[in-house]
Amino acid sequence: MLGIETSCDETAAAVVEISQHPHSGVVCRMLSNTVVSQIDIHKAFGGVVPEIAARSHIEAILPVIDKALDTAFPFLHDEPVKEKMALIDAIAVTQGAGLGGSLLIGLQTARSLALTADKPIYPINHVESHVYANFITETPLKGYQLPAKPPRFPLLALIVSGGHTQLVLFEDYFKYQLLGKTQDDAVGEAFDKVAKILGLPYPGGPSVSEIAKEGEANKFNFPKSKVEGDYNFSFSGLKTAVLRAAQEACGGDHTMPSTELPRRLSEAQKADLAASFQKVAVDTLVGKTYKAFLEHSPASVVVAGGVAANHELRRQLSEKLPIKIEYTDMKLCTDNAAMVAALGAFKAFYKQSAKSPYSLDIEPNLKM
Ligand code: KG4
Ligand code: ZN
Repeated sequence: MLGIETSCDETAAAVVEISQHPHSGVVCRMLSNTVVSQIDIHKAFGGVVPEIAARSHIEAILPVIDKALDTAFPFLHDEPVKEKMALIDAIAVTQGAGLGGSLLIGLQTARSLALTADKPIYPINHVESHVYANFITETPLKGYQLPAKPPRFPLLALIVSGGHTQLVLFEDYFKYQLLGKTQDDAVGEAFDKVAKILGLPYPGGPSVSEIAKEGEANKFNFPKSKVEGDYNFSFSGLKTAVLRAAQEACGGDHTMPSTELPRRLSEAQKADLAASFQKVAVDTLVGKTYKAFLEHSPASVVVAGGVAANHELRRQLSEKLPIKIEYTDMKLCTDNAAMVAALGAFKAFYKQSAKSPYSLDIEPNLKM
């Protein structure tokens, strides 16, 4: 399965294969995983600029697919793309959710490839595919730490990214129930906004958690927001509480422009704000995951999406949950195409129907 992912600011392509083993069951093996990140381009703007993202995807998509095929089939290195495509059975492409202009580039490329190379095409829900990154257990590629075994059903998934925060219970492949989701900001978005308040580089998650190591998590007492529904989340109040505390720490009130804060706050204050914010954000995620675990007794728990790379979240979850959580490699937590190819491969393997490349369209607001 060739996977193509362009939902936000990563241009990605990957090849995976899936097979039935007599002892270990269904095994998903990653043959290549090519990601070109636009982070350096968007850094200057403090966040993703959709128009620039779409243009960058246009430049990168064909070389990225080429590289993914080349890595997967090194014995065909000098052969034309057509020869490599002959070894691909089907194409999986992110249909949504994501930025319209960005999604279009990946989807149109996938449609063209599907038509010219005569391959079936599987449209993929980006958020659902984050969960399938955890089903990749083998690879000949160097530098990956993969789980020894795939997760088992019923499977509880905490999906935490820049655009989504939700708890989903999977009874089986493709059969799931949304237990709850954020009512406003996603947790990754809260990390990104707090980073902006503190003057830290985009993306905020890694930079906030890095300086949080130096700070005191109990210095600021930020409130956990209360939302209706046991498994729903809310992070916009927390973000505002950080802003107010930062303004107060510099002797200002709510009228102090947030652009003033990075140069007025001391490094120690920034570290304390970051640590106190991260504590409440992580406590909230862990608390609700634990509650869902007690209510549904899943056989496995996985954490998916960019925020799954957060060490403090991993540490607290492992401490709280009475089940061993197998985390996948950090490179498979943030956006990539191996997860897209993996979900596509499971769809093909379990005989889900492919879609016509003639009528396939993007769905920027696709929900789980
Ligand atoms: O899954 P992803 O790559 O893209 C989306 O689908 O949104 O997630 C990106 C998000 C960003 O908000 C980023 O700040 C956050 O994941 N993130 C982290 C960490 N690494 C990435 N958040 C907290 N801690 C991290 N170590
Ligand atoms: Zn994502």
